[in-house]
Amino acid sequence: MSDNRAIGVFDSGLGGLTVVRELFNTVPNEDIIYFGDTGRVPYGTRSVETIKKYASQDERFLLNQNVKLIIAACGTVSSVAADTAYELPVPFFEVVSHAAKAAVKATKNGKIAVIGTNATVKSRQHEKVILSLMPDAKVFNQSCTLFVPLVEEGWYSADDIVVLETVSRYLKPVFEFGADTLILGCTHYPILSEAIEKVLGDSVTLINAGVATAEAVKQYLNEQGMENIRNKESEHSFYVSDKPDSFVKQASILLGREVDGNKVQKVDINNL
Ligand code: DGL
Repeated sequence: MSDNRAIGVFDSGLGGLTVVRELFNTVPNEDIIYFGDTGRVPYGTRSVETIKKYASQDERFLLNQNVKLIIAACGTVSSVAADTAYELPVPFFEVVSHAAKAAVKATKNGKIAVIGTNATVKSRQHEKVILSLMPDAKVFNQSCTLFVPLVEEGWYSADDIVVLETVSRYLKPVFEFGADTLILGCTHYPILSEAIEKVLGDSVTLINAGVATAEAVKQYLNEQGMENIRNKESEHSFYVSDKPDSFVKQASILLGREVDGNKVQKVDINNL
């Protein structure tokens, strides 16, 4: 059995491309349709009500593209709005539970830290999943508000003094807490991995939610006989709710490769 329809991925903006990057590595035969809500980013500072409304519209857009599965790449949507996907007629993957499971597997001292947007940290969703799997775990939550603008500005080098100072300030309490495992609970944070490793040292394992989710998707497609087995190169399309050219300019930082401008289209997400 096979299913040659594309996988739909959405995010509040560009950040979800870090998850697409992992899908390219893990399920290279799959076509991807990506929607980035660049006209309404950020989600992480908004109310739960607004995030749910936006997530529902994003999901509807992808369903209209006839995808076989939907992934909320956004840590914020996954934390506070996953219930908008309960009724979807296609399988749905969020990034929180897979990251939490990977963290539980990785920790040796039972001390896990979670970093994410304000909304993600306030939801305590990672903590709930971690404690359901490991009731005696200790979880420390920290929002890192400046990490997203830093990455979007192109400031992520582990040699950049501004990057290192910002990362150190946010992660000082994580270090003091003694976590041996850190969940990167926001799409942009994997781009700062090198700087984070430099600050925390190699005794802390970083959990990239995109890697954990891509593995889970791979396993699911295989078990369900839903893999794309067409014998041709995979095709990807990108949709945004604001200017395609700004997306194309910044996309390569997060995706790790150039995006063909002809493959990026603007959609009116408010009217869905
Ligand atoms: N994509 C968001 C997340 O992973 C970060 C940007 C935003 O706040 O919308 O939480």
